[in-house]
Amino acid sequence: MSSNVPVITIDGLSASGKGTVANAISLKLGWNLLDSGLLYRIVAFLVDHFGMNLNDEEGIEHLVTQRVRIDYSDRGVQASLDELGRPLRDGVMILSDSLHRKTVQWKGDDVTNTVRGNEISRLAARVAASRRIRNVLVPKQREQRVMPGLVADGRDMGTVIFPDAQLKIFLEASPETRARRRMAQLGAAETEASFRHVLQSLQERDERDSLREVAPAKPAPDAVRIDSSELSVDDTVARVMDLARQRKMIV
Ligand code: C5P
Repeated sequence: MSSNVPVITIDGLSASGKGTVANAISLKLGWNLLDSGLLYRIVAFLVDHFGMNLNDEEGIEHLVTQRVRIDYSDRGVQASLDELGRPLRDGVMILSDSLHRKTVQWKGDDVTNTVRGNEISRLAARVAASRRIRNVLVPKQREQRVMPGLVADGRDMGTVIFPDAQLKIFLEASPETRARRRMAQLGAAETEASFRHVLQSLQERDERDSLREVAPAKPAPDAVRIDSSELSVDDTVARVMDLARQRKMIV
């Protein structure tokens, strides 16, 4: 499974800043970007949309592999046909890249805000606990490893998906810092009550993501841990770039 295409993995808990940092690095380097959380969010969106039962792993697998198609539009694949050229029964989900600000379309509608919202976040963390569903998404993630390189953001990028990555980062930040970042992301009013609410839902998701049996969010043994609580985005990016230079991944 080893490949010559360079990969920087950036794992961490929710709102640790990994998405922002991964985005900035991929733009600086002109490398591809994998936002793996978005794939779990998309599956959660579909589960919700089709009113499926979360325990019906077989049905969800069938839905994701046979009934709908999840595609990256920047790869130019937008056909609503399955691998054998038959029309897909239920539709196509498209991830568009627009300069790495990934947007999501479902049957032509922009559903990015719904997919990024709190409701789907919670559902995604439950979907992501299923080994069967995780396995379905493995090739979708690995196919993004193309020249000149990939920056991969998630929970298990360094441990499961790209264990041979040349540089693995595990980004940390205090729960309070992460709650504040998440509030800014959601455009939530800065009241004590909304802060408590966001902090609590973050901690619930942390618990689910780091304690689950399959692919828990944890640093790979060879990952570099960076605490970004006191660092700006630029400082964090600079630190990762220095590490990539030291490892001769970039000049
Ligand atoms: O990173 P993001 O918050 O968008 O991820 C949504 C959810 O998807 C996470 O809470 C986590 O449960 C799941 N996830 C995962 N493995 C990844 C990325 C995300 O389990 N590599």
